[in-house]
Amino acid sequence: MSRFFSEKYRTLKAYTPGEQPQERKYIKLNTNENPFPPGEWVAEAVREETANLRLYSDPESGKLRKVLSERLGLKPENLIMTNGSDEGLNYAFMAFCDGNHPAVFPDITYGFYPVFARINGVPFREIPLRADWTVSPEDYADAGGPVFLANPNAPTGIFLPLEGIEMILQENPNNVVIVDEAYVDFGGESALKLLGKYENLLVIQTFSKSRSLAGLRLGFAAGSEALIRDLKAMQYSTNPYNVDRLAQTAGIACLERDEYNLRNAEEIGKTRAWVKTEMEKLGFQITDSRANFLFVHHSAFPGSTLRDRLRERGILIRWFDQERIRDWNRISIGTRADMKTLLAELSAL
Ligand SMILES: Cc1ncc(COP(=O)(O)O)c(C=O)c1O
Repeated sequence: MSRFFSEKYRTLKAYTPGEQPQERKYIKLNTNENPFPPGEWVAEAVREETANLRLYSDPESGKLRKVLSERLGLKPENLIMTNGSDEGLNYAFMAFCDGNHPAVFPDITYGFYPVFARINGVPFREIPLRADWTVSPEDYADAGGPVFLANPNAPTGIFLPLEGIEMILQENPNNVVIVDEAYVDFGGESALKLLGKYENLLVIQTFSKSRSLAGLRLGFAAGSEALIRDLKAMQYSTNPYNVDRLAQTAGIACLERDEYNLRNAEEIGKTRAWVKTEMEKLGFQITDSRANFLFVHHSAFPGSTLRDRLRERGILIRWFDQERIRDWNRISIGTRADMKTLLAELSAL
């Protein structure tokens, strides 16, 4: 830290992203990326668009929002495109939280939420998950501030059925409920269908997981026109050209053949079921994940040890140095071949 660094950020604990090694090739099961590449048609569209790169991108992401709104059965006014869903989440913290309205989220969830709260100088309140790591909707009644729920949750992968989401929405008429659906395409059910019914619902999704475009940085938020206008005020006050030309073009190409992505997501779900069964045979305890990862525990290995042993064998998985989950690891679902190698290494260990 330099001596010039603002007083207000000196105690900031920034988010630690999963490792992206550059020096050697690992089987990467640590950041929930999709093992399948984006379709070739996406690359082709991007190549053509490079000719226009001297021009700024459309700050409204107009064409992309139109295509996406048709796909989702919404109006373009119900959508804002963002630079990864992280940006949309940050906008929501900026727009809806303040000193009197703390962010409210589970004690075990996406590790970026407390970071977004701190960088925006707003308080937050963590509500413990039940002992089985499910969300207890009753605990969120009159939450006192915007509720942030990853569904399926990370890193547990556990899905809260939509009745639970509805209960939280109904018990919080004066709070926005933000449902972060980064992993919903791998076996959850989207709250998008509840949008017409609840003006306090904001759904956030990403192209990083089921659509194989993590490196592109593209996400979106869907909600009432009024909520979307609030988020746009954040966009236009920080980074109007938040989604670049290549990302808008790739997003459109990707959506035009979305069935390719859905097929891959289904395949990942099948691989997840198979790996879970095989790992349970090896003595692992595993949550009921509806995401593109498994959350696992083995009594013979503290979480950090399993991560280190697999790293030595060329496989990266994730460990979180956090209370309640220190003995657990999150393992992304890769290709069948990747997972075969993982199972072989686990058996050897
Ligand atoms: C629950 C959850 N939400 C949001 C994100 C952010 O994804 P992106 O910014 O790539 O869209 C992630 C990334 O891993 C995540 O796990």
